[in-house]
Amino acid sequence: MGGAAAAGCAVGTNCGSPAVFTGSFGATTGLAGWRRIRTKGHRQAGPPMLLSAYFLNANGHSTRMIVIGRAYLSEREEIKKLIAEYHRSEGLRPNKERIAWAVRLQLRDTPGLLLVARDKDTIVGVALAVYSPSAELGRVMTVNDFFVSPDHRRKGVGRKLAKHLVEECKRMRIDEIGLEVLHENKIAAAFWNSVGFRPADRFLFRKKLEQATARNPTL
Ligand SMILES: CC(C)(COP(=O)(O)OP(=O)(O)OC[C@H]1O[C@@H](n2cnc3c(N)ncnc32)[C@H](O)[C@@H]1OP(=O)(O)O)[C@@H](O)C(=O)NCCC(=O)NCCS
Repeated sequence: MGGAAAAGCAVGTNCGSPAVFTGSFGATTGLAGWRRIRTKGHRQAGPPMLLSAYFLNANGHSTRMIVIGRAYLSEREEIKKLIAEYHRSEGLRPNKERIAWAVRLQLRDTPGLLLVARDKDTIVGVALAVYSPSAELGRVMTVNDFFVSPDHRRKGVGRKLAKHLVEECKRMRIDEIGLEVLHENKIAAAFWNSVGFRPADRFLFRKKLEQATARNPTL
């Protein structure tokens, strides 16, 4: 089915009929390669890899230093707050248990990514992406949450976060990055287009299941 690319950044039940964006790298790799990658130390729980430090002054923007890197375990409360702010901004009531569960899983030794943008000691951006294998598409990374604090927007933070997400995915030999954008979220669509993602030629289907995990996402 290749539906793995069709989950993502449009949050929760409010997805409507989102456009699906993908970025593709073409190369197809095997499981042996994946194991090799995992043993190279892509662990969220350890010290974060410093991916970049830069000054946002190219267009007369802020000159404060923003650093992109993997998240520390100790930052999980701050990350949870930022994701809750993101969900509220999308008109959703944040499900604290579910956010905590997703962040905890990403901070463990999972093959996904949890990247943060730091402005000194403050996290001002977050990207949470999960890995899933697809028999059709190969290694798919799906961006489920992507958010920049409102007071740090239009300063290139999102662009840098996306750039490093792509670089990390290339290092992990991911074949395709997928995410969803709600049709009404024109800013997100403009953003993903501007960083090289293109709408996918796929329908997005869903069926919500009333399960125990809806009441307790940690099950
Ligand atoms: C979408 C979002 C992550 C962009 O982050 P950002 O840090 O403001 O983006 P950047 O400053 O790096 O912008 C990169 C490019 O995206 C486009 N863009 C960003 N914001 C835009 C806006 N408000 N209107 C039009 N284009 C915009 C522009 O092309 C911009 O380049 P430019 O500033 O040189 O013109 C941010 O607006 C956000 O967190 N929105 C709410 C959450 C959300 O919708 N997440 C995405 C879900 S899929």
